[in-house]
Amino acid sequence: MALVKVWISLFLTVFTITGSICGSASAEESESESESKEFVVTLDHSNFTEFVAKHKFIVVEFYAPWCGHCKKLAPEYEKAASILSTNDPPVVLAKVDANEEKNKAIATEFEVRGFPTIKILRYGGSVVQEYKGPRDADGIVAYLKKQSGPASSEIKSAEDASSIVDSDKILVVGVFPEFSGEKFENFTTLAERLRADYDFGHTLDAKLLPRGDSSAAGPLVRLFKPFDELFVDFQEFDVDALVKFVEETSTPTVTLFNKDPKHHPFVMKYFNSPNVKAMLFLNFSTEQFDAFQSKYHEVAQLYKGQDLSFLMGDVEASQGAFQYFGLKEEQVPLIIIQTNDGQKYLKRNVEPDQIASWVKDFKDGNVQPYKKSEPIPEVNNEPVKVVVADSLQDIVFNSGKNVLLEFYAPWCGHCKNLAPILDEVAASFQNDADVIIAKIDATANDIPPDTFDVKGYPTLYFRSSTGNLLNYDGGRTKEDIINFIQKNRATVAKEDSRKEEL
Ligand SMILES: *[C@@H]1O[C@H](CO)[C@@H](O)[C@H](O)[C@H]1NC(C)=O
Ligand SMILES: *[C@@H]1O[C@H](CO)[C@@H](O)[C@H](O)[C@H]1NC(C)=O
Ligand SMILES: *[C@@H]1O[C@H](CO)[C@@H](O)[C@H](O)[C@H]1NC(C)=O
Repeated sequence: MALVKVWISLFLTVFTITGSICGSASAEESESESESKEFVVTLDHSNFTEFVAKHKFIVVEFYAPWCGHCKKLAPEYEKAASILSTNDPPVVLAKVDANEEKNKAIATEFEVRGFPTIKILRYGGSVVQEYKGPRDADGIVAYLKKQSGPASSEIKSAEDASSIVDSDKILVVGVFPEFSGEKFENFTTLAERLRADYDFGHTLDAKLLPRGDSSAAGPLVRLFKPFDELFVDFQEFDVDALVKFVEETSTPTVTLFNKDPKHHPFVMKYFNSPNVKAMLFLNFSTEQFDAFQSKYHEVAQLYKGQDLSFLMGDVEASQGAFQYFGLKEEQVPLIIIQTNDGQKYLKRNVEPDQIASWVKDFKDGNVQPYKKSEPIPEVNNEPVKVVVADSLQDIVFNSGKNVLLEFYAPWCGHCKNLAPILDEVAASFQNDADVIIAKIDATANDIPPDTFDVKGYPTLYFRSSTGNLLNYDGGRTKEDIINFIQKNRATVAKEDSRKEEL
């Protein structure tokens, strides 16, 4: 989902979650490799499926020869492969050149979007898991040993317990009178299924656990978390019910976002959720923080299970979000709600006591959507007219004119080259009341995504006075553009003939 990607990159630009990746192709050729024995297995389209099918556990790196991050990883990955080749059982590390035309189908199948992408394939490739570990040899080895070992480790002593109960992470522990039976098996299935995202343990003795009823004999599942109630017990053993229990109880009522990396896995989870997103931004150092937190928490509690997720972000860590939404620091504390169709709702300078009623108004459909817009300019008398989000309808759709509209970004070099040409085009239509040449800063104004497809800058659209909307992808000379406008503008005669057709 595109929105999620934008989000995560916005919020987490400052930090590295799984390490850097290369985006798209750039030059730089790879050199030939040395002759020494390689532990990393090379796979390609001709043998990938067959080879993977033979393995219960295999790690595959998708790389591109030109990618610098891949080159940096290569010696570490090779070293890890050599160490893990003597593991019991051995762990196989493989690589696929995803840049190679013939291998692209495999890369697509595994949803490779950047390089390097590392996947763990289990059971002959029938279960695919994202590699979320470090990128140095020792880190890779430790992570893969854990991933290839049992999904849940037994807690036999208080030391075992304290070594796996991490104060920042989610831990799911099964308490059983004995390690057998269908309930235990279902717990094991759960651990197997969610092992990439959570830690699992099992024990015969609840007294070893740091929190909760220590006399419980089980079977029960106790989830430890670093927020809200700190632990939750569950006694159903249907696998799907267990999965749902873990996913739901491991989501904070209010997700916190600041520069502290311990919150980031939960922030990722927040943005990956399909829910509508409510975000309260404020300065976490303000005196009113506690008042905001408790009121916001109450509201979040109230809407639990209603497809609305709550996040509280510190302004200091949220510059990306502010830019994206066109928000200003003097507007904090503020709440912004974003729905999945991209609509936004904004309450500026909110006070703790206003949160509940505003969110209720939003839920009841009584809040008008918020649109990011620069102010409508008071004077707009240059040849190329300035359009902003708030004047887009009036100038482009309701003016009854033929409008050529440029979507630009202030930093874009091609836009700067185009500017004098558009000026000339505009000048040549100066005495033609039916034609408008206009521009909009697409970074400072919300563009209706269902109307315009703006993926790069500059993007040019032409809307004729009769309502034809065309994307202009012709040449960038004055003559090309003028010819296009002349050809596609609605003339009175055309309009007449259309009416006759109707
Ligand atoms: C797969 O095929 C490629 C190209 O023919 C070859 O280099 C590679 O060694 C093969 N891998 C295996 C495991 O057979
Ligand atoms: C174990 O899980 C399966 C599949 O979800 C379910 O049908 C079964 O009832 C569960 N067993 C117990 C004891 O809950
Ligand atoms: C947040 O508040 C603290 C204390 O009042 C202040 O020192 C800091 O500059 C503020 N941060 C921002 C980003 O406004």
